[in-house]
Amino acid sequence: MTRVLSCIQPTGDVHLGNYLGALRNWVNGQHEKDVYHGIVDLHALTVTTESGVVGESTVSLAAMLFAIGLDPDVATIFVQSHVPEHSQLGWVMECTVSFGELSRMTQFKDKSAKRETDFVAAGLFTYPALQAADILLYDANEVPVGDDQRQHIEITRDIAIRFNSRFGETFVVPEAVTPAAGARVMDLQAPTSKMSKSADSDAGCVFLLDDPKAIEKKFKRAVTDSESEVRYSVTEKPGVSNLLDILAAAGGGTPAQLAEEYAQYGLLKADAASAVIAMLEPVQHRYRELMNDPGELQRLLNIGASKAQEQASATLNRAYEAIGLLPR
Ligand code: TYM
Repeated sequence: MTRVLSCIQPTGDVHLGNYLGALRNWVNGQHEKDVYHGIVDLHALTVTTESGVVGESTVSLAAMLFAIGLDPDVATIFVQSHVPEHSQLGWVMECTVSFGELSRMTQFKDKSAKRETDFVAAGLFTYPALQAADILLYDANEVPVGDDQRQHIEITRDIAIRFNSRFGETFVVPEAVTPAAGARVMDLQAPTSKMSKSADSDAGCVFLLDDPKAIEKKFKRAVTDSESEVRYSVTEKPGVSNLLDILAAAGGGTPAQLAEEYAQYGLLKADAASAVIAMLEPVQHRYRELMNDPGELQRLLNIGASKAQEQASATLNRAYEAIGLLPR
């Protein structure tokens, strides 16, 4: 059976980019594939220094993952720090990747540049090694992610291939899986930048928990261009194309076909907002129910941790044996 693994950081609220680019793909196929999904709290430490924040976000993110439709009876949902093998294999990965390879990661360059005079944790640099451990521990064949994570999956493949050639066949070499529409959702205010929780303002970022009025307002104010023709061209018309992408991902159809149905930007914005509101309504309802029962969430995460650890410890032992570390 195909094994699927993907993860998300508990840093702030989940947005439309996370959902359309990755999370929705996590739900699809969970009954046909063997799926593992992690809330990667240790990754969040690269940018969080305040006490208590990560734990709270972890619970809320767990509720969101179940609210979007991940079924705890079939999907293994776990918290990264509950499975210490991630950190253990993370070190082995750091010794299997080079300084030069890590230096080429665009996410590190972007994030460290944004932090300017702020504290730049060494973990921000070595981050892809821990991400490689997250993936390789589960023998994952597929990693459903948004476009921005492709480079991290590529480096994971390189690390797996290098380890296998040094120490013998140990890891499955994974592949990134991205959706046809929604792989790169852009900021509504700055449509040449990806939608992100770390943007300067929330005006261009639609959160899954935004109420309908807020969603309408964000779409109404979306930046387009000075023309009036609705046409799909990501390079020439990034704002309009982003709206078409979102409408296609939320309501069906392809962006190019949908472009032909609209003569004005105003109607396109209104329909994109309505499609997103309709898509999120049941998710928000279920999220509120789940957040009222933190004991149940904890119970589900404990089950996930045990299942995840069983797989992770077997792979870590295999890696240690392949290297030839002295058994105790
Ligand atoms: P994170 O937490 O930033 O995002 C979670 C997922 O959302 C996708 N995504 C987007 N997709 C489309 N458009 C956007 N604007 C957008 N913004 C975010 C991301 O591609 C991602 O799939 N490094 C990862 C977390 C991670 C991970 C892993 C992922 C750690 N270990 C192992 C896969 C496998 C990250 O920071 O994602």
